[in-house]
Amino acid sequence: MGHADPRPIGVFDSGVGGLTVLRALRARLPDEPMVYLGDTARVPYGTKSAEVVTRYSLRNAAFLSGQDVKLLVVACNTASSVALPALRATLGIPVVGVIEPGARAAARVSRSGNVGVVGTPGTIASGAYQRALAAERPGARILVQACPLFVPLAEEGWVQGDVPRLVARAYLAPMRQAGIDTLVLGCTHYPLLRAVLAEELGPDVTLVDSADATADEVEELLSRGVVGRASAGAGGLRVFVTDLPERIPELSARFLGERVERAEHVDIQGS
Ligand code: DGL
Repeated sequence: MGHADPRPIGVFDSGVGGLTVLRALRARLPDEPMVYLGDTARVPYGTKSAEVVTRYSLRNAAFLSGQDVKLLVVACNTASSVALPALRATLGIPVVGVIEPGARAAARVSRSGNVGVVGTPGTIASGAYQRALAAERPGARILVQACPLFVPLAEEGWVQGDVPRLVARAYLAPMRQAGIDTLVLGCTHYPLLRAVLAEELGPDVTLVDSADATADEVEELLSRGVVGRASAGAGGLRVFVTDLPERIPELSARFLGERVERAEHVDIQGS
């Protein structure tokens, strides 16, 4: 076991979606203090170029380093798919992304090796899931689909009924026909649409949410003493956003399962 380390775990995302990852982390590690940064002024990342997303990610990480975090969780699939090498080269602390844990979990649960991945256009275009799955499960047949309409549906709370069902049907039809047995929810927002996706794909398809797999990985780093644990009862949460925080109480209730009444606005420089 490593030494105790009271510093917080830093978590960032392009906006509120990463709160689904924070939720899994807080459930798994209730004694760890955490600092979350949502770059709500610049969301979405999923439709932006790898260069821009990497630049934004480095700046988010610099802000969290200033909060003296002991470990960084990149709770955004798009940022994880393009910016991890730059983040790891720059920061002197462990950096955990969401892609590899999700790919590992999918490779483990798939019986047939026919695996679908849904994500933002940026995540799918990067090929990061395709590479990670191929490495974890050589010979896997991987089908991918960018689903940009899922993000606004989740943010607006349109997660049930005909509208999300028809959108999901259109996006998922090729995978359904191809007989996938596992679908990776490769975007922070998609767990909110889990019920609709499960209904569309039927009971034979397992949905893999990389939030839980990522929380497992962080817990393992603490257990192995790569970073020290905080002491019992230390777990608090600070939430920062780069746009005005008006919608955070409502959005955090849905994405985090806890109502964050007071998110702090922070103006991080650079565009
Ligand atoms: N957080 C992003 C992701 O997981 C989704 C929202 C966005 O496009 O910024 O890819």
